[in-house]
Amino acid sequence: MKMTRIFAAAIAALGFAGTAAAFEGEQHAPHEHHWHHDGPFGTYDTQAVQRGYQVYQEVCASCHSMDLMRFRNLGQQGGPFASEEFPNPNDNLIVMQIAASYTRVWDQDEVNDDGDPVERPGLPSDAFPAPFANEQMARASNGGAYPPDLSLIVKARSHGENYLYSLLTGYEEAPADSHLAPGQYYNPYFPGGAIAMAPPLADGIIEYADGTEATLEQMAEDVTTFLSWAGDPHMETRKQMGVMVLIYLLIFAILVYLAYRQVWANVKH
Ligand code: HEC
Repeated sequence: MKMTRIFAAAIAALGFAGTAAAFEGEQHAPHEHHWHHDGPFGTYDTQAVQRGYQVYQEVCASCHSMDLMRFRNLGQQGGPFASEEFPNPNDNLIVMQIAASYTRVWDQDEVNDDGDPVERPGLPSDAFPAPFANEQMARASNGGAYPPDLSLIVKARSHGENYLYSLLTGYEEAPADSHLAPGQYYNPYFPGGAIAMAPPLADGIIEYADGTEATLEQMAEDVTTFLSWAGDPHMETRKQMGVMVLIYLLIFAILVYLAYRQVWANVKH
């Protein structure tokens, strides 16, 4: 009886080791990268969020939408272009400038006297423009693959930021035994290893507004920080609230202890 159990356990262990090894060959575990917003006191690096927006706007936005974002979100409290001078993001000059740099038909219901939809410069209340009108068009332009909406992508993938950073910096020469279809690229951090997104970043493809050197790693870190912020803009307030609650509980615990001492002070054992 005992022998059969040991035997069964050994077989199970072998099977487990086998699957683990096969998995490792296909997908690498993401790097453990350090993020400014890690940990209970971590806050977003605002400069990085700003640079990350620039990367999204100049590189990723030609394929990926961010449907949940409006321009004014960039200027809201905690956002990359928030300013004390303009607490209302609809009045924020940078946000107005960014929005106005896009001229297009924003709303099919905004029509001229002939009933045709009109183009106008964007307003802070407009949504980030999507690169494709619908999923079919997006697929047709990307060899059949669909570039997912990036609004919540950091939340939607396990290992969030670390996965994204590893994916963006992790393209490699395809090994000889990989079977890539046309339009696929080898990236060991992507499940299966074959991804239909050409490496989007390379050293120096953009020029940062703040003069930072645009290396591949810098852009990957910045755009990931931006996407992290976009998916969880209230993280800082939540963490602050957590700290306040802990301080409150600590003070409360001290008071309860003092009251306990007081109440029992004259009781003889
Ligand atoms: C030329 C178009 C194009 C550009 C530019 C582009 N992507 Fe993609 N991206 C795609 C396509 C297509 C896919 C789907 C790949 C697949 O399913 O194999 C994709 C997939 C992704 C995924 C999802 C991976 C997953 O786990 O499903 C992420 C994250 C991503 N892109 C981030 C970015 C970021 C960040 C940028 C800008 C730095 C960017 N992409 C630029 C076309 C693009």
